[in-house]
Amino acid sequence: MMKKIVVLSGAGVSAESGISTFRDSNGLWENYNVEDVASIDGWYRNPELMIKFYNDRRRELEHCQPNDAHKIIAELERQYEVVVVTQNVDNLHERGGSSHVIHLHGELTKACSERGKRCVEDIGYRDIKYGEKAADGGILRPFIVWFGESVPLLEDAAAHVQTADILIIIGTSLNVYPAAGLLYYAPTGIPIYVIDPKEVQPIRREVIFIKEKATEGMRQLRAKLMTVDS
Ligand code: OAD
Repeated sequence: MMKKIVVLSGAGVSAESGISTFRDSNGLWENYNVEDVASIDGWYRNPELMIKFYNDRRRELEHCQPNDAHKIIAELERQYEVVVVTQNVDNLHERGGSSHVIHLHGELTKACSERGKRCVEDIGYRDIKYGEKAADGGILRPFIVWFGESVPLLEDAAAHVQTADILIIIGTSLNVYPAAGLLYYAPTGIPIYVIDPKEVQPIRREVIFIKEKATEGMRQLRAKLMTVDS
């Protein structure tokens, strides 16, 4: 039986691809008000602004490429069962080759109806225009999980963490719940690696900290796994 690796990733894994993180200096939340562009209240107050914000993110994504961290995570599939649980709305894990990616916070390249988030459709990199309708006649909105909304894939993600043999946490400040609580579903005693150039929120589990950027951190971790598991 192949060992199972679960990767919990955040904005930092895509930073070296040119995508801004949220809470670093010059991160998105320094330049935008979270409530305006990432909450369900914001949508009802000013949907045009929100649509523009995600159109901009989608345009930016089209010109970004997966980096070596995404690629090494994908390569691990040769030796392990790998499930990527990401808070990212970009598609760089998939483009890097990962075949099983759970997007906790939604996906930039999809849109859905504002009525109960039904009628999810692939839109690729095209803009959404305010007023466009989904198949059920509701207003078309970005397929993003905003603050104040539920996280439908949480239980699925938790079930994977519960059956992991190795957990890798990469590029997330662990500020946002419920995603940040997922690591506590990990079975007792499994190795938990944390890759981040900065100190992450206190983690009440024993972890192996690799204080590097994502690409270098994944290179080091790959070398380590090869000595342990080959
Ligand atoms: P944050 O911006 O909160 O955290 C990014 C983390 O990545 C920090 O710990 C940085 O130190 C680290 N980092 C920066 N550069 C890195 C690099 N090159 N390699 C590795 N790590 C690096 O982003 P998230 O934790 O992903 O949700 O944020 C979680 C959620 O907050 C997002 O999904 C988004 C946001 O609000 C929604 O909008 C719903």
